[in-house]
Amino acid sequence: MRTVDPTRIVQQGYDDLDDTYRRWVERARDGYRSTFLTRILAQVPEGADVLEIGCGPGTDAAALADGRRYVGIDLSDIQLAHARVVAPAGRFLHGDVLRTPFPPASFDAVVSFYAFNHVPQDRMELLFGRLVSWLRPGGRLFGSFGTLDNPGAVEPMWLGKADMYFSSLPVASTEALLKEVGFGIEFAETVTEIEEGQGPATFHWVIATKPSKDEVQLRS
Ligand SMILES: C[S@@+](CC[C@H](N)C(=O)[O-])C[C@H]1O[C@@H](n2cnc3c(N)ncnc32)[C@H](O)[C@@H]1O
Repeated sequence: MRTVDPTRIVQQGYDDLDDTYRRWVERARDGYRSTFLTRILAQVPEGADVLEIGCGPGTDAAALADGRRYVGIDLSDIQLAHARVVAPAGRFLHGDVLRTPFPPASFDAVVSFYAFNHVPQDRMELLFGRLVSWLRPGGRLFGSFGTLDNPGAVEPMWLGKADMYFSSLPVASTEALLKEVGFGIEFAETVTEIEEGQGPATFHWVIATKPSKDEVQLRS
């Protein structure tokens, strides 16, 4: 049996997609993602430290970096090259969020649009544990998640150009895991939209909060 390395497939896929992904996502800017971005910008104040996971070609990097200390991380060097152009004020790292170390309590917000659905289901608990530790008390995670119980599968020639790996948990499991590692769910909405060339796609949009020091004391 051939073993599949999800990280390698995703990295290679986004390198191969290059401009094809950037142009495709540009045409989807007016979808629910813009409503969610407006919420993020209203809730994350000027001067905040923000980490964006899977920033890709920098679709939201310029808006997030405006007045904030922004770090974007992505597996694809090719996508990061686009991001660096659109958000020159940002700091960009080439790496895997499952392996890159950040000091505890170094961010006020962690943001991720459409990247968690590339992380294998069985790594999500590890990932959430890392995110909660990187956030300061009272910090927030803003993310979109898949909704299907998909243990991991490769979609051949995604967007007509590159093989791509997808995986996701059902909505209730994502929320249960977030709570298990210490997050509170502040907001959650499941939205179906038509993706160009792909058909209907459903995502689970979540704002999860790391309890503040006072909340932790009240609970204990
Ligand atoms: C669908 S694109 C989303 C890009 C951008 N956030 C947007 O909405 O247009 C997913 C991005 O997540 C990145 N990614 C996926 N898994 C990752 C991981 N484990 N670590 C870092 N980046 C990852 C991919 O390289 C890709 O650029």
